[in-house]
Amino acid sequence: MAHAVVATEYGAPSTLSIVEVEVPAPEAGKVTVAVKAAGLNPYDWKVFTGLYGTDPAKLPLRVGNEAAGVVTAISDGASTEFGPVSVGDEVVISNAGGLLATEVNVRTRSLTPKPAGVTFEQAAGLLLAGTTAWDLVEHANPKPGDTVVVHGASGGVGFIAAQLAVAKGARVLGTASARHSDALTAIGVEPVLYGDGLQERLSALAPSGIASAMDAVGTQEALDASIALVEKARIFTVAAEPDQAAELGITRLPAADSNAIRSASGKPLLDLVAAGKLRVVISDIFPLSEVSAAYDLVKSGHAGGKVIVTL
Ligand SMILES: NC(=O)c1ccc[n+]([C@@H]2O[C@H](COP(=O)([O-])OP(=O)(O)OC[C@H]3O[C@@H](n4cnc5c(N)ncnc54)[C@H](OP(=O)(O)O)[C@@H]3O)[C@@H](O)[C@H]2O)c1
Repeated sequence: MAHAVVATEYGAPSTLSIVEVEVPAPEAGKVTVAVKAAGLNPYDWKVFTGLYGTDPAKLPLRVGNEAAGVVTAISDGASTEFGPVSVGDEVVISNAGGLLATEVNVRTRSLTPKPAGVTFEQAAGLLLAGTTAWDLVEHANPKPGDTVVVHGASGGVGFIAAQLAVAKGARVLGTASARHSDALTAIGVEPVLYGDGLQERLSALAPSGIASAMDAVGTQEALDASIALVEKARIFTVAAEPDQAAELGITRLPAADSNAIRSASGKPLLDLVAAGKLRVVISDIFPLSEVSAAYDLVKSGHAGGKVIVTL
């Protein structure tokens, strides 16, 4: 028997429980993975607290949308776009649900090989935020010498987006709280405090203008400052509500082409981390028994990096 995290009712992280689940032999197109680490994301708690609906028919709800582990069983001819899959392979799982469990059956198309130089914890925390960040940067398309702003640059999405934009030669202004200023400076980002006067601070730092805004926060303040300083067609958000973004005339991602962009970015992101060219900042690592505390930290909105659960 495996152990899995479930929400038996919609509510706070404290209502999550760990239950025993059976993991049958994988059917065609699937493999069994022994999960070593799972990455936690704001999307998870938005679902299990009921922010996206409280349909009782969906309970009990399995939790967790990204993980890394070792393949323990395969179906006949299991393979991915990266080649055949074998027992013992170290893999990253994305685009799948219910991954906060000691063992899971997942479709082979959800797998990306984990490079040896990337830890299970880094790999588990990279792809959901990383592919979102890649999508933001592809759309914003910063050019060498451009000044751009990343709102929420100390968060899971923002920290990767900021590094990718720096790598493209842009000057990156990254909004965050004061306690994350040093971490941003270390990756070549100019930290800018959010809060009252944000627009004025940004404008003083970029008197010639800001080429694009990448928003991973969605606060009214971040949206207002972006609209005041950046051409609307060059503002991209992953955090504002879709209706709000449409009303403001800015682009909410995912967009029509995001699926293709995100699916193609998993392997390059892992390779960048393996090559030491991209940092995954891990804020904290919790054992499975402390999953509720782990989600409390994610839900605070100020984790300052990825929150990981080891299994
Ligand atoms: N649309 C999509 O496809 C997609 C995909 C992934 C994520 N998302 C969304 O993107 C957002 C960010 O996700 P994440 O994983 O990066 O979250 P995260 O790791 O919790 O990061 C949150 C960020 O927001 C900043 N922040 C917190 N309160 C703030 C405030 N009042 N004003 C300005 N900044 C504030 C934090 O800065 P400090 O810690 O320095 O305070 C941190 O940089 C979430 O809303 C998530 O649901 C969307």
